[in-house]
Amino acid sequence: MKITLSVIKADIGGFVGHSSVHPEVLNRVKEVALEAKDNGLIKDVSVIVCGDDIALVMTHTKGLDSSEVHEVAWNAFKEGTEVAKKLKMYGAGQDLLTDAFSGNVKGMGPGVAEMEFEERKSEPVIVFFADKTSPSAWNLPLYEMFADPMNTAGLVIDPSMHDGFIFEVLDVYSGMSIKLSTPEELYDLMVFIGATSRYCVRSVFRKKDGEIGASASTQKLSLTAGRYVGKDDPVLIVRCQSGFPAVGEALEPFARPWFVEGWMRGSHTGPLMPVSFAQAKPTRFDGPPRVIAAGYQICNGNLIGPVDLFDDPAFDQARTDASHMANYLRRQGIFEPHRLPPEEMEYTTLPKVLEKLKDRFQLVDTGKPKFTTEGEVAE
Ligand code: F6R
Ligand code: MG
Ligand code: MG
Repeated sequence: MKITLSVIKADIGGFVGHSSVHPEVLNRVKEVALEAKDNGLIKDVSVIVCGDDIALVMTHTKGLDSSEVHEVAWNAFKEGTEVAKKLKMYGAGQDLLTDAFSGNVKGMGPGVAEMEFEERKSEPVIVFFADKTSPSAWNLPLYEMFADPMNTAGLVIDPSMHDGFIFEVLDVYSGMSIKLSTPEELYDLMVFIGATSRYCVRSVFRKKDGEIGASASTQKLSLTAGRYVGKDDPVLIVRCQSGFPAVGEALEPFARPWFVEGWMRGSHTGPLMPVSFAQAKPTRFDGPPRVIAAGYQICNGNLIGPVDLFDDPAFDQARTDASHMANYLRRQGIFEPHRLPPEEMEYTTLPKVLEKLKDRFQLVDTGKPKFTTEGEVAE
């Protein structure tokens, strides 16, 4: 059976501040989602939370970009927002940028990751869900899962993975994407995906047969809204086993934390900490950024799960390492590289402060070519 797995997420209000979700808000979202299931609009749904974000994990047979399915998520978030407003939750309805649904949640605030596939004899999938970071946070782990034999032994050992995988990379500013084939174009791939402020991996396909292996949400909220609203807090779907990375190979990159952009005010670099569902409530300096892993077996379109995959003492060391990394960075305070570089700060609330001061700049004779504060050559 061909099924579609659609994961749609939004921040519709934080409890307290930007740290988690109030149970009544979550219950309302679940109620609306389950009504849609009862009405046959979707086959199954599971609602998961990371920090102040809620994701609807839905199965159905309506294909990618189905307006009916997107509307299910939109209505659930709308109804949840009503409760969030009633309780005066922080930033109630924050990610819902328009009032009326117009066919597809993309461009309306929520983040979306979707894939369509023929359900295998057994279909294990992982939905990764992060808070206080952006979609490019998935670049490094996707490279390790699907292109690095030092992480994924299957690339060497399993004949169906041995040909490699194709990565689709998106330039989030131009909206253009490029497909690159690994291992032969690995170095070209790294040119782009190492530049995490601009490029993010959108999807990954198995080269042998074109089967989809991973799909990520790539919506950049500030570009959609035209102003800083909050961080993008992305989701990622990864199919596992039998010709895809084993569950353990998909989880392994997270055992060695790395730095991502986000954290406080979406303006900092910080370690991505893999946590259990219960620990996905970032509070220290509004972070550090968190990621959960929700495992499902899909059975005739039903979601059996989730299993809380980072709820494993084997990830305790990663959590400790991430805390050490956080300590080092916090020492830098508002100084780079803890604070993001100026190009990235453009998409935060800082430009408002700069605007106030812009007329106070004066040209200084440095004896070198002169540039305006916008970086253009001065007259
Ligand atoms: C980061 C985030 C928080 C807020 C911070 C300030 O993605 O959501 O760190 O940016 O708490 O929030 P405001 O400006 O709403 O007071
Ligand atoms: Mg928030
Ligand atoms: Mg969030």
